[in-house]
Amino acid sequence: MYAEIIQRISMTLLLLVVTSSPSATLNTIMAGSSLSSVPGTVTRVAAVVGGDAQLPCDARPPQRNDSLLLVVWYRDDNPVYSYDTRVPGPTAHWSEEAMSERARWLGSPTSALLVRSVEARDRAIYRCRVDFQVSPTRNYRIALDVIELPSKPVIFDEFGKEIDGVAGPYSEGGSFRLTCSVNGGNPTPRVQWLQGDAVLATLGAGEARDGPRSLTLEVHNATRAQLSAAYTCTADNTLLAAPQRASVRVELYLRPLSVEILSREQPLSVGRVAEVGCVTSGARPPALITWRLGGRVLSSDSEQRHSENGNETQSVLRLTPLKEYNGQILTCRAEHPKLNHSAIESKLLLNIYYVPVTTMLLGAKMNPNDIEEGDDVYFGCEVDANPPAYKVVWEHNGIQLQHNPSNGVILTGNNNLALRNVSRLQAGKYTCTASNVEGDGKSPPLSLQIVYRPLCRKREVRLIGAALQEAASVLCEVDAFPAPDTFEWTLNNSAGSIKVDPERFTTEGKEGRSVLSYTPVSDADYGSLSCRATNLAGQQVAPCIYTLLPATTPDPPTNCTVYNLTHDSLDLTCVTGYDGGLHCIYVAEVWANEGLVTNSTNSAAVWSLRRLGAKRQLTIVVYASNARGRSEHITFTVETAPRLSPRTEAQEAWEVSWALGGVLGAALTVAVVLCLALITTRLRQRARDYEVTVPSSKIQKASLPKRNSPHPPDDRNPDLIPLSKGVAECPPEPPPYAAVAASPEKSSSSAHSLAHHSHSPSTPLSPHSQYPDSQSESGKTHNGTLRSHREVVTTRTPLLAGHQESCV
Ligand SMILES: *[C@@H]1O[C@H](CO)[C@@H](O)[C@H](O)[C@H]1NC(C)=O
Ligand SMILES: *[C@@H]1O[C@H](CO)[C@@H](O)[C@H](O)[C@H]1NC(C)=O
Ligand SMILES: *[C@@H]1O[C@H](CO)[C@@H](O)[C@H](O)[C@H]1NC(C)=O
Ligand SMILES: *[C@@H]1O[C@H](CO)[C@@H](O)[C@H](O)[C@H]1NC(C)=O
Ligand SMILES: *[C@@H]1O[C@H](CO)[C@@H](O)[C@H](O)[C@H]1NC(C)=O
Ligand SMILES: *[C@@H]1O[C@H](CO)[C@@H](O)[C@H](O)[C@H]1NC(C)=O
Ligand SMILES: *[C@@H]1O[C@H](CO)[C@@H](O)[C@H](O)[C@H]1NC(C)=O
Ligand SMILES: *[C@@H]1O[C@H](CO)[C@@H](O)[C@H](O)[C@H]1NC(C)=O
Ligand SMILES: *[C@@H]1O[C@H](CO)[C@@H](O)[C@H](O)[C@H]1NC(C)=O
Repeated sequence: MYAEIIQRISMTLLLLVVTSSPSATLNTIMAGSSLSSVPGTVTRVAAVVGGDAQLPCDARPPQRNDSLLLVVWYRDDNPVYSYDTRVPGPTAHWSEEAMSERARWLGSPTSALLVRSVEARDRAIYRCRVDFQVSPTRNYRIALDVIELPSKPVIFDEFGKEIDGVAGPYSEGGSFRLTCSVNGGNPTPRVQWLQGDAVLATLGAGEARDGPRSLTLEVHNATRAQLSAAYTCTADNTLLAAPQRASVRVELYLRPLSVEILSREQPLSVGRVAEVGCVTSGARPPALITWRLGGRVLSSDSEQRHSENGNETQSVLRLTPLKEYNGQILTCRAEHPKLNHSAIESKLLLNIYYVPVTTMLLGAKMNPNDIEEGDDVYFGCEVDANPPAYKVVWEHNGIQLQHNPSNGVILTGNNNLALRNVSRLQAGKYTCTASNVEGDGKSPPLSLQIVYRPLCRKREVRLIGAALQEAASVLCEVDAFPAPDTFEWTLNNSAGSIKVDPERFTTEGKEGRSVLSYTPVSDADYGSLSCRATNLAGQQVAPCIYTLLPATTPDPPTNCTVYNLTHDSLDLTCVTGYDGGLHCIYVAEVWANEGLVTNSTNSAAVWSLRRLGAKRQLTIVVYASNARGRSEHITFTVETAPRLSPRTEAQEAWEVSWALGGVLGAALTVAVVLCLALITTRLRQRARDYEVTVPSSKIQKASLPKRNSPHPPDDRNPDLIPLSKGVAECPPEPPPYAAVAASPEKSSSSAHSLAHHSHSPSTPLSPHSQYPDSQSESGKTHNGTLRSHREVVTTRTPLLAGHQESCV
């Protein structure tokens, strides 16, 4: 069995005999053995120093009728002990000084000389002479071998250092040497190395020289089996005493035996922290675990734990995966810091999922700066994704493209997009988006530029009003790619077609526009202007055309629509007409029976009218105005919605002011009534005197039936002049045309109704407002939609006329 162990541990033992003492071959007899001494022969007796020795000597009388007389012991013919039977008492024994206390004759039945505390000098051949009374004397020769035990072995390592208990540490696979040294011993001791009961090396008693005996144990290729085993050195030279022994244990550095990455919960996701464990065992002291990724050491974020017996080490790596880690190899390496080539590794191929990374490419043969309308354009979408993308979506300016071969949009399975016969509208930013379980990855946009000739930004013919000797600026705006380089202006008039001097217009190529400053000097300078731009792709095909007209008053707004009508507000928008060729403002006046409610001016025909009051019958007058004057008016009535509760504070405040106004109005009315009563009385007196009648205007009469004014229109009397101190103090006067425009029967109570011609709220109001002023003045039909209206209409505001009539 031990042979097996030795074989397994592959140990090579080498025995070195260094010293020995002169040999002595002895037939050793155990002290105290049976009486075997025979006269004439030498009987050998061995004894250990300090122990007892019995030197046998048969003192039994050979015959019955005989008896012992005297026993004498000689050493080298010198008597050292005697026993005389003839002397009574203790004096029968005598011993030489050196033996005095230690020697004692033991009579029957032992019949031997007992020597206690044997000393080295006791080694000798002793003679025992026995005298009987009758029988002849006998002699025995006994050789006493005194055995000196060797000293306790001492173990040294290869550096000559005495080892007490533990040797090493040594490296696994390395070699070490232990030397056992034994001093003394007579006869020369046998020295042995043992592991357990197995003898590893022996220095025999025969192999001897002078000096201390030492035996060296040399172990090559040390294995972990050596770790637990104790090595013992023994020295012995007699069976009479137990061998001397000394033991050592060997401490070994052990390389790790196994390493394994534990958590393999793949795939991992980019950015989501994953814990990866690694366990190693077998190293002593515990192994050092390091993590590597693609050859790079990951230093941070791992912790090591050792098992209780130090055999096993675990490391947990907190790994935040990056996209780049995909396909790389994560290595867990366990190594022993003190042992060369001790590292062992466990590898894990990383499978990292990530959001697709996409890149858009223009077809290889395409020049991105030279794509014209009608060309075919190809795009590729490069997708880098794990897991592979399950779909790829294309977008043009944020709008998803659908496969539509009839429209020339072709999406192919291998992430390609083809646009057949592109138009300039297909220019813009293209992106592709690939999706997988991790999310959607959108590519940076790729701008597709399509070269096309300039095009007018506004298609319709524009009207430009210009007064004689006044500079008018004409703006020509074109769309083009690339931006136009040059512009060309042409004037077409009765005289023919003339190119305009380039000094008279600007060329702002980047903005795609040119501004011509044009001053008509005579009537012949009116006509049509055309503007053409030229860019890389060529000259504009259809020019932008402007009709140059003499400046005039604007056309009135048409097609007015009221919306968002509430108890207090309304929004109003109208379609604007020709602005007369000049900057134009748009005015909306809101009138109630009491007078002007609000007057709103705007640069566009859009108004937000507020603070109108609930459930009021309002007349709205709309007109345009420019430097040349005002347009005709459009008039219509609107009734605001009834109040809805709860009321807001602002509304209440507004009401209070109206209420106050009402009270004041009432007071004023009373005063006026009194005043009138007085005047009327006088007038009647005078009328009676002078027979004068008060004519009332036709317009005023027409408005009478619809009025709900506190003051009947009849009350307006030229004779009121003394009481009125200005327009403001005139009794509230609704514009006369309002009355005409709003026909009482058709004015519904619907909040949304526009009373004029009983149009529905959204129905445009006809520009043919039949207010008396315009009819009376020109009798013309004003067509609000007619853009080329050139008449200079000098319509007076009927309102003013009303005021003048009433107050002047
Ligand atoms: C023994 O000795 C005694 C006297 O000493 C003698 O009388 C006797 O006869 C002897 N016997 C033998 C058998 O010799
Ligand atoms: C150590 O042992 C191994 C196998 O047990 C063997 O292959 C190797 O040769 C040995 N080395 C030495 C130096 O004996
Ligand atoms: C140490 O680990 C090795 C390998 O796993 C095993 O064979 C051995 O028994 C372990 N020793 C102890 C003391 O646990
Ligand atoms: C380990 O390697 C180092 C350098 O390579 C060397 O100096 C050392 O002696 C080696 N140790 C062992 C035990 O082989
Ligand atoms: C290209 O498109 C234009 C309109 O965008 C069309 O008029 C023309 O016929 C198309 N050409 C071809 C070859 O389909
Ligand atoms: C300018 O006049 C010419 C003839 O004089 C005519 O052929 C051309 O169409 C006119 N252009 C414009 C824009 O009116
Ligand atoms: C008036 O507006 C309506 C709707 O907004 C539109 O359909 C109609 O053509 C417009 N009429 C004119 C003369 O602009
Ligand atoms: C007026 O109506 C328009 C839609 O017609 C709406 O967008 C707007 O918010 C409204 N304004 C108010 C103040 O209600
Ligand atoms: C309304 O405002 C316009 C422009 O501000 C002004 O011309 C007009 O006279 C005002 N109307 C009234 C009735 O005050």
